[in-house]
Amino acid sequence: MKILAIETSCDETCAAIVEKSNQEIRVLSNTVASQVAIHAKTGGVVPEVASREHIKQMIPVVNQALNDANTLLKDVDAIAVTTGPGLLPALLIGVETARALAASTAKPVISVNHIEGHIGVNILEDAKTLFPAIALVVSGGHTELILVSAWGEYRKLGATRDDASGEAFDKVARMLGLPYPGGPEISRVATNGNPSAFDFPRPMMHDTLDMSFSGLKTAVRYEVEEHKDQLENPQYIADIAASFQQAVADVLVSKTTRAVQQTGAQTVLLAGGVAANILLRDQLEKACLLENIAFIKPRLSYCTDNAVMIGVAALLKGEQGFKDWKTVKADANWELVS
Ligand code: KG4
Ligand code: ZN
Repeated sequence: MKILAIETSCDETCAAIVEKSNQEIRVLSNTVASQVAIHAKTGGVVPEVASREHIKQMIPVVNQALNDANTLLKDVDAIAVTTGPGLLPALLIGVETARALAASTAKPVISVNHIEGHIGVNILEDAKTLFPAIALVVSGGHTELILVSAWGEYRKLGATRDDASGEAFDKVARMLGLPYPGGPEISRVATNGNPSAFDFPRPMMHDTLDMSFSGLKTAVRYEVEEHKDQLENPQYIADIAASFQQAVADVLVSKTTRAVQQTGAQTVLLAGGVAANILLRDQLEKACLLENIAFIKPRLSYCTDNAVMIGVAALLKGEQGFKDWKTVKADANWELVS
């Protein structure tokens, strides 16, 4: 089965061609047109601006993905698209493009949940995942622990009660005068900082799998407001960034370990944009080693939004996921599991 996959849920216009033959998944192309430079000017994503940019980029990105894969549209078996969750004006561009392509070629559409894409892309790193697995989903909009009994079978174990971890990275970066998106910036400057310089809180470390990041964010805000004069000092910025990043990693690693112990999971799957964070990757890897379980993380190019993950999730659904284009619609609040 060969699939054209489309993803426009936030600020990257993406298309990819993926294929499954003899149980093996192959990525034939992966095109991402990033809007980061545009949203950096406003310090975050303005949905209408993202939508207009998707309109400009969508067709060229689809053509590029087809060309790079040496594939004609008529040769794909289905068109997969992220239908949620995400920003509605952004989602609509990908969804309407998929519907139009499907209508004009009489092909089925596979509707994919963005979070399922982030989790499922891990199959490219290890095709023989041992279940049950715990997926730690950490992105700009989500921070969740999900029990994965098999591909496609999910149960939510815990989630943030306020900010998502990626959102906390973005907001703290802003307080420090660092550009959007904040996650990569914080980790970049943190390499020169001391992670113990500030003793920021690790909220809700007690016996729950829910999490909270707004208290940590507020603690950083108080610290920065008290020492505004220090914001010109690169060492101060580096120390705050390193201490904040350490606090986030500590919470995520501790919660994931607890989820593993409570469920007897055999694997941890890391998923979402914050999965690109090197400290988190390293510390989770060590924790899994101590628990004697497998740890799978996406390669860096598959951590942040891309269409390969949407194609992979569609291949995992297979023909059972085929839908008539008329029945496919965007759902900005689609929860993978409630
Ligand atoms: O999955 P993603 O690309 O988009 C959403 O689905 O939200 O995640 C984007 C989030 C942003 O908040 C960004 O700051 C964060 O992922 N991020 C990182 C890193 N790279 C991206 N956070 C921490 N460290 C990173 N290296
Ligand atoms: Zn994402």
